[in-house]
Amino acid sequence: MCGIVGAVAQRDVADILIEGLKRLEYRGYDSAGIAAIDQNNQLIYAKRLGKVQELAQALQDNPLEGSTGIAHTRWATHGSPSEVNAHPHISNSTIAVVHNGIIENHQALRSKLQGLGYEFLSQTDTEVITHLVHHELKTNDTLLSAVQHAVKQLEGAYGTVVMDSTNKSSVIVARSGSPLVIGHGLGENFIASDIMALLPVTRKFSYLEEGDVAEVTRFAVNVFDINGVAVERPAKEVNVSHDSGDKGEYRHYMLKETYEQPTAIRNTLEGRLVNNEICTQAFGAGADEIFKTIEHVQIIACGTSYHAGMVARYWLESLAGVSCNIEIASEFRYRKSFVPKNSLLVTISQSGETADTLAALRLAKEIGYQASLVICNVDGSSLVRESDLAFMTKAGVEIGVASTKAFTTQLVGLMLMTLAIGKHHGMPADKQAEIAQSLMSLPAKLDEVLALASDIEDLAEDFADKHHALFLGRGDQYPIAMEGALKLKEISYIHAEAYAAGELKHGPLALIDAEMPVIVVAPKNDLIEKLKSNVEEVRARGGLMYVFADSEANFASDETMTVINVPVCDDLIAPIVYTLPLQLLSYYVAIIKGTDVDQPRNLAKSVTVE
Ligand code: G6P
Repeated sequence: MCGIVGAVAQRDVADILIEGLKRLEYRGYDSAGIAAIDQNNQLIYAKRLGKVQELAQALQDNPLEGSTGIAHTRWATHGSPSEVNAHPHISNSTIAVVHNGIIENHQALRSKLQGLGYEFLSQTDTEVITHLVHHELKTNDTLLSAVQHAVKQLEGAYGTVVMDSTNKSSVIVARSGSPLVIGHGLGENFIASDIMALLPVTRKFSYLEEGDVAEVTRFAVNVFDINGVAVERPAKEVNVSHDSGDKGEYRHYMLKETYEQPTAIRNTLEGRLVNNEICTQAFGAGADEIFKTIEHVQIIACGTSYHAGMVARYWLESLAGVSCNIEIASEFRYRKSFVPKNSLLVTISQSGETADTLAALRLAKEIGYQASLVICNVDGSSLVRESDLAFMTKAGVEIGVASTKAFTTQLVGLMLMTLAIGKHHGMPADKQAEIAQSLMSLPAKLDEVLALASDIEDLAEDFADKHHALFLGRGDQYPIAMEGALKLKEISYIHAEAYAAGELKHGPLALIDAEMPVIVVAPKNDLIEKLKSNVEEVRARGGLMYVFADSEANFASDETMTVINVPVCDDLIAPIVYTLPLQLLSYYVAIIKGTDVDQPRNLAKSVTVE
């Protein structure tokens, strides 16, 4: 989703800004733009529809020189993807603005500003900020105070950076709902929507809080809270163990990240289990007290993270003995829900910035949840900072929009959470040890699964001309079937649905024919006989099946069924083990279809608007 980079320096900043935008490409976008203030205090800018590389090319032809600048990648919300709608937006050749988020009262503001004589060039909500700041400058002495007055009139979400060509010594940034970080350099300072953008220039960051407005100069960052009171937002060195790097030997980030899963899981487990016992400090100070007293867990997440939460529900209820509900954040936040006594709210988010998940956490605090915990991959993110407890997955940076290693490390985190809660709710010590050992065996097991890649690649041919696919699973493999279907639709654009296999007769059986491949997730477990009956129902209707199963499940390939042999594994870790072949399947199908695997159309990695 939209990305912001800004800089106030002594040197020319165009290269820094373009590199920053490239490093934000993984978030998803459709156009890009850059503006700087030149030696003559003139605003100069360039915008391009499409990739950042096209903008970079345009700057090669027409270099943009200036030591104060802002840049943006846009993911269209209001107004189609186009050059005119791309940011920065400019007012009266002096004010330039980049913005992430959505201004909900943009129509009313647009009418008001048009009444004041402002002419709008774009269809965006952002352009109202530009003219509003220009208007406020007529009655305010400084850009800071103009922005402070302007943001008071905005409803909705914004992370915005404003620049005035008549004063290139500073830029003004404001945050409400969309994250912004300040990167602290030596005699230069930077702004970005995500630390990734600034890693080549600094490792020292401070985070703006909700409602903050800050003035950023080369030597100072002056932050004011929502009431205009000067506040400190301490800067911290970040220790990012995995930079995005490059794709190395891999053709796509998604493939690289799929293969990184054994290592990512090893890193996530490291130091969290000692002598087969969970170290509850991994969840933060006070975790034991909270886990002891909670009687119910409510999980909230979006997308792939929601699927991880669905698996955790099976684990928490069957292994830890506490009741658990799971809900999509965008639903939870807009309904009146009942809060059971002593409830823990668990959010799951790779980015830690998903707007709906963050809003759900804030709501939970208001409606009486006892405590909150986040399972997250980005330290310092909004969800981590605003939750009582946090478990950090150690997946490293994930660039591919379709989540792979972030998902499986979330599952590991959730299993560790199950252990930590179970420990206080009567989980026997031998069960705890069994789970711990099972988790420790995972990385090696996943290496075995990755060896199936070429078999799965061969299989992918069968899907290339299909328009639909159905995924089936039961129990804790049902969410894995959902995740498999999501992966396939995200990157190959094949319509895919997942069903709990027991629901087949209640509708989807009507769809079965030779044109509808049915993918079955079928490890040998307590439900295997039930699942086999469902497989027969599909077979009887002429369906074409692809069954991912271990040898103990006893499936054999024939003319209607292709069996992919997955290594035998413990039931406890089977949801994680069976995820990988489905990731590989969607990857190879996408390759055959020639889609943009790492940045699929219309999708964004980090969804910071609702
Ligand atoms: C987007 C991403 C998904 C991700 C979802 C939730 O849709 O493309 O990969 O699962 O957001 O993101 P989160 O960062 O909260 O896990």
